[in-house]
Amino acid sequence: MLKLENMKYLIVGNWKMNPANQKEAKELFNTIKRGVKGSKAEVVICPPFVYLSELEGITLGAQNVFYKESGAFTGEVSPLMLKDLKVKYVIVGHSEVRKNFNETDEIINKKIKECLREKLKVILCVGENKDENKEIVLEKQVRNGLKDIPAKDFKNIVIAYEPIWAIGTGKNCSIEETKNSISLIKKIISNLYSRELANNIGILYGGSVNSKNSGEYLRSVGINGLLVGGASLDAKEFIEIVKSVE
Ligand code: PGA
Repeated sequence: MLKLENMKYLIVGNWKMNPANQKEAKELFNTIKRGVKGSKAEVVICPPFVYLSELEGITLGAQNVFYKESGAFTGEVSPLMLKDLKVKYVIVGHSEVRKNFNETDEIINKKIKECLREKLKVILCVGENKDENKEIVLEKQVRNGLKDIPAKDFKNIVIAYEPIWAIGTGKNCSIEETKNSISLIKKIISNLYSRELANNIGILYGGSVNSKNSGEYLRSVGINGLLVGGASLDAKEFIEIVKSVE
């Protein structure tokens, strides 16, 4: 059975294509490492691929992955390679990848399956834009992204609700609307699998999270953690966010 009720809060920093060089990456990582030592949360840093082998002492995540083990796939990185670098989590389906690389739910589904096969934990990002119908977008992204994935694998899947309009804009989603979206996601999971699974699945919120709003999300929305972009590049700010778990 799923054991998510015992899940620690998960605070994930997504550095995106930053910082500019290895020296800065190490400095940022090590400052965060000192600041979050002994935290009750599980802290995960997702740096660009090229820095992964240089960083240790905080759980590592990757920002993307390809869905094959090896072969003629120029520019791609496999789950096996990530595993070899001690990566534990992989972000799949981030809206920036969906948009910039026309990543479809079918591709996302393949990536998730390949990660699960290699025992990597998946953070599946879903979310609508302002001009889209939230119910329809979430239903499609959750249903197709998780197609043919058995319930037993959900101990290794976390869903991150990230409304596109809230990402990097400073306009975080209101608590009420976030609650509404999370219950929509749980309803979709409940219809696809079971109510029990829906109640136990790990869900994160992401989109302009900072140290001023992080505590309220954790307290009031009934989520398991946060996916932090911009604020994860500021060590002091990110450490504060991690502290808001307490
Ligand atoms: P943001 O990014 O915190 O800068 O809004 C979140 C994300 O893209 O995961």
